[in-house]
Amino acid sequence: MTGTQALGEPHPGKAVYQKYCLTCHQSDGSGVPGMFPPLSPNEWIADKDKMIELMLNGQSGEITVNGEVYNSLMPAHDFLSDEQIADVISYVRMSFGNDLEAVSQEEVAAAR
Ligand code: HEC
Repeated sequence: MTGTQALGEPHPGKAVYQKYCLTCHQSDGSGVPGMFPPLSPNEWIADKDKMIELMLNGQSGEITVNGEVYNSLMPAHDFLSDEQIADVISYVRMSFGNDLEAVSQEEVAAAR
């Protein structure tokens, strides 16, 4: 996301989320117990670098999110543009009970 946004317009990351993340993590970010972890506040979302890496490289193996163990596979989303990745991370970081600062396109580009 760049610059200011008109009031009432959906965040640009919302459309990216709906297209690429919703099927697994659900529209309200609650996930599916034992299969897809929730996007409510947790250490992954809190850590910008971890979150960027997760988008670029995906994630597999056992992880614990809010006390529940997951051992599955999240596909890499490196086919998205730096802007789309920044937008969707920023959207997640301000949704589902999270209240964290946005991630910029430049930060994604630097990690890629
Ligand atoms: C095919 C299903 C699938 C899709 C699509 C998917 N994820 Fe995931 N995601 C997972 C799974 C499964 C894990 C846990 C991986 C593991 O067990 O190691 C995960 C883990 C995560 C985590 C870290 C743990 C947590 O719950 O906070 C975040 C953040 C996340 N995904 C965000 C996203 C975002 C944003 C998108 C869209 C760009 C996305 N995911 C798309 C399945 C998916």
